Amino acid sequence: MTSANTVPTVTLGDELIVSAIGFGAMALTPVYGEVDDTESLATLHRTVDLGVTFIDTANVYGGGNNEKLIAKLLADRRDEVTLATKFAIVGNPADRAAGAPLTARGDAAYVRQCIDESLQRLQTDVVDLYYMHRRDVNVPIEETVGAMAELVAAGKVRHLGLSEVTADELRAAVAVHPIAAVQSEWSIWSRDVETSVVPTAVELSVGFVPYSPLGRGFLTGTVRSAADLSSPTDFRRNMPRFSGGALDANLAVVEVVKSVAAQQDATPAQVALAWLRYRAETLGVASVPIPGTRRAARVEENLGSLSVTLNPDQLDTLDAAAAAVSGNRFTDMTWVSGGRE
Ligand SMILES: NC(=O)c1ccc[n+]([C@@H]2O[C@H](COP(=O)([O-])OP(=O)(O)OC[C@H]3O[C@@H](n4cnc5c(N)ncnc54)[C@H](OP(=O)(O)O)[C@@H]3O)[C@@H](O)[C@H]2O)c1
Repeated sequence: MTSANTVPTVTLGDELIVSAIGFGAMALTPVYGEVDDTESLATLHRTVDLGVTFIDTANVYGGGNNEKLIAKLLADRRDEVTLATKFAIVGNPADRAAGAPLTARGDAAYVRQCIDESLQRLQTDVVDLYYMHRRDVNVPIEETVGAMAELVAAGKVRHLGLSEVTADELRAAVAVHPIAAVQSEWSIWSRDVETSVVPTAVELSVGFVPYSPLGRGFLTGTVRSAADLSSPTDFRRNMPRFSGGALDANLAVVEVVKSVAAQQDATPAQVALAWLRYRAETLGVASVPIPGTRRAARVEENLGSLSVTLNPDQLDTLDAAAAAVSGNRFTDMTWVSGGRE
């Protein structure tokens, strides 16, 4: 049993100290299937009890309901949580299940509007880490980050972050205000950030927060066929890697993760998270993944990855599996950094 005081911490950029594993709350409102608010709240409390105190949400998750759920956790535990939320996506990611397009907005007026709406939903006075969720390519990033910096000066936000920015966008942002973290997809099967974004983050002393570190659940072995994605609120089946021949090809990648897990007496989820820890160490970046789950037992399991070791042969085996992944991580790759580098 792990207790709060045994979870190590990591210092991201801008001297932001967080638990070495965070918790991504996105799927506590429907996006990978149905949810139960009572179970979700219990999972959140257990998460903080375990010492996983870096909680990640966004204004658009659940159309605002995700932040309202987090507010229930914060009601009597605000001081225990390092709270991260985001703005800039217009539209609910869950609508992707119905094929709706998403757009980004980064003008200064929208930044000011969004933080006030989030603080209201979260029922708190300050957000610890405020991310630009997506780049609005019609607005200079200096304007967006400049407006975010004003929120720091106003005391509404403590640190700034950016999601899915390119190396050049990160460089431009850092010239305006220190950036604590880049949050972008990074896992065994999503490694495009290793080319430019991660090295630039290292150079600029910016931390990294890998999102979807379990490959949206795929790397855990729980998705065995398209039938496992049949819930009307599971948008993964519309993503290139989860559909058609790609899904079948990618199941071979999971078999490799499972085989390494069996060697280490660990679970596939733990191996996926441990691999990320080794990769971040190798590249020299301060990194804290934010796996998400609706179930408290899995929070404890994922935390256990911190003590899972992998030998060089196993790392090579996982790297080789990564090279065999089929399909892009998004349909429109310009929506993420890899398509704009
Ligand atoms: N910045 C961005 O654009 C962006 C995009 C995506 C995500 N994110 C953030 O990153 C967080 C995590 O990403 P994610 O939720 O997309 O994907 P993820 O953490 O890679 O995977 C989540 C999925 O894995 C399953 N899972 C978790 N632990 C497991 C375990 N030990 N064994 C088996 N299955 C397990 C969960 O299912 P159960 O619920 O059934 O356990 C869930 O479906 C999100 O919550 C969100 O905060 C950010």
